[in-house]
Amino acid sequence: MQRFEQLLLENKAWAKEMVAEDPEFFERLANIQKPEFLWIGCSDSRVPPDKITQTQPGEIFIHRNVANLVIHTDLNLLSVLQYAVEVLKVKHIIVCGHYGCGGVKAALSRSSFGIINKWLRHIKDVYRLHTSEIDGLATEEERVNRLVELNIKEQVLNLAKTSIVQRAWKFENQPHLHGWVYDLHDGIIRTLVDIAPGSHLDNPIYEYDNLEHPFN
Ligand code: CO
Repeated sequence: MQRFEQLLLENKAWAKEMVAEDPEFFERLANIQKPEFLWIGCSDSRVPPDKITQTQPGEIFIHRNVANLVIHTDLNLLSVLQYAVEVLKVKHIIVCGHYGCGGVKAALSRSSFGIINKWLRHIKDVYRLHTSEIDGLATEEERVNRLVELNIKEQVLNLAKTSIVQRAWKFENQPHLHGWVYDLHDGIIRTLVDIAPGSHLDNPIYEYDNLEHPFN
């Protein structure tokens, strides 16, 4: 049997197990999804959101990309964000990065990697804001891991700068924004930053003052 065929076999076994535990499980989920969380994480295969938080299908709405970036022109991310905030009405948005992130490591180097240069450029721009702090660290591992943390904080701020989040803050007093970092060495998630609904941003130029209700 080839490895991919084993995945399909495992899937059947899993579905059978779920029904054995809870006969209504799939029927219930098939009709509605009402997750409380939007997770924006790295695509890295070692950081599976539902596994590391022991959540079940239906509990987390998930978007993943290289180095968990929130880019304000990324239609994919923005579509997920708008649907999560305005339709699913998630209460929390979690940006979860991880130490040892390959995307961050690549961005911190001067190597060209082809088309992904354009994506990694956003991380270089975060480095540029903290050059002296990062360059002051002794090892490459420390420099990468500090940029991992600073990048997560920057992406949470990027969420707060969107009209989608600001509109929901104004009319729904949610969602809370969280920046988390996962440690591949011990499997533990640590919190880095929390932004409550309605918080002021570092510069008022990012705060829209003419937002209307999304369904007006
Ligand atoms: Co990564």
